[in-house]
Amino acid sequence: MMEQKKNTLRERVRETEQRCGSQVMADRHRMEYHLMAPVGWLNDPNGLCQFRDTYHVFFQYAPFYPNDYLKCWGHYTSEDLVHFRYQGAPVLPDREFDRDGAYSGCAIGLGDRLYLFYTGNVKEEGEHDYVLSGRGANVIRMTSLDGIHFEDKRCILTNEDYPAECTCHVRDPKVYKGKDGAYHMVLGARLRGDRGAILLYRSQDLEHFIYEGMHMTEKDFGYMWECPDIFTLDGHRVLSVSPQGVASERYRYQNIYQSGYFVEGSETFTEWDMGFDFYAPQTFADAEGRQILIGWAGVPDAEYDSDPTQAGWNHSLTVPRELFYREGRICQYPVQELETLRRERLMPDEKGCVMLEQGCGDVLIHSVKEGTGSICIGTGCVLEFGQNEITLSFQDETGAGRGIRRAKSSPVQDLRILMDVSILEIYINGGEMVFTSRIFMPEKAVQIQMDLKAEDIAIYRMEGMVKE
Ligand code: FRU
Repeated sequence: MMEQKKNTLRERVRETEQRCGSQVMADRHRMEYHLMAPVGWLNDPNGLCQFRDTYHVFFQYAPFYPNDYLKCWGHYTSEDLVHFRYQGAPVLPDREFDRDGAYSGCAIGLGDRLYLFYTGNVKEEGEHDYVLSGRGANVIRMTSLDGIHFEDKRCILTNEDYPAECTCHVRDPKVYKGKDGAYHMVLGARLRGDRGAILLYRSQDLEHFIYEGMHMTEKDFGYMWECPDIFTLDGHRVLSVSPQGVASERYRYQNIYQSGYFVEGSETFTEWDMGFDFYAPQTFADAEGRQILIGWAGVPDAEYDSDPTQAGWNHSLTVPRELFYREGRICQYPVQELETLRRERLMPDEKGCVMLEQGCGDVLIHSVKEGTGSICIGTGCVLEFGQNEITLSFQDETGAGRGIRRAKSSPVQDLRILMDVSILEIYINGGEMVFTSRIFMPEKAVQIQMDLKAEDIAIYRMEGMVKE
């Protein structure tokens, strides 16, 4: 019976990918070097890892969008973070304990196996608010010998294994190896009384997990913390979370939900990204020891549109970003491999304008004079900086409902803009601050107009990343 459900779901995914793939590929907003779902909906990056030299990027995937938001995991692999191969949807909600969605989670290699951990979402029938009752939030584990085929689905934790303070919103396991040689799992939680927190578990064998405690901020900080991640960067322990329910301020927390990090020993929450479209990032350490972050270039429940052409797909991931610790902050910068996608250098005209014919470019501006200036991207997107303030605003329909985002920053010296058809990633001062935003031009070609003085400006056309 179960085997049958699995096969039908797998076939339905494949059939949908085949039937809708060409319409999706033809959409003018489809990007060239960002990872998207082959069809349907994408949200969080999941299971990021490098296992036996191969990079794995899984993602929350709703192939039947817009009719149905049932979540599976989609899967890309890569040898170099530039050429990606789509491997299908290896994690499907085909058992009682995950029947309403294979939600977010992680991957970790141990011995000759790759282990996946994720949340099996179950919605019980009946009268429920699905916060205090009616929801099963199981931790599920699968394993693989080759990193492609996953089997042996097991339920590792259920609601009964969570402390009594929790509502039934507990999810998004991230497992990592501690300095003590043990494995640790962190889960995001919504406590009764609406406080966000993380739960910590410990295991020796990746099968039996023992509850060790919870952690939250002293002051209230949202009602739910999603997608936690714990890692060490340059000797500093970092907790990354995506809290929901934090009140917006003029210069902070401007999106409906946030994502950011705490460095151990401090209660300061620094947002990862100040743009309109960023949420639920995850990190992993690769074989070279780089800590690499990938985020979802989208936000749940946003009041602006990310699918204006309704061509059967929605959202993308950010490019992989290497993390660097610098004076209490974490800088993010596109992994070096992306530079292999640079093609000819383009020269701005005397008015500071340059045209990206296919909508893809890498713009590097070094040593901005006086720290002030503005850049107009397309017809209505404006980045302005000066006086320790940066704003990104949309003044026409290319924002599809996006308005303005403001940030306090140190004087702007360097800027890098990755432009990819319908997404912008703007890195300020070597990645001290990042703005990620979608942009929807009527044509692929996009003009960038720079109104600033700088020592050096280098603009490259970017080639598409190969996605098989
Ligand atoms: C974050 C999130 C996760 C959950 C997943 C479901 O965007 O809500 O907490 O596991 O998305 O798709």
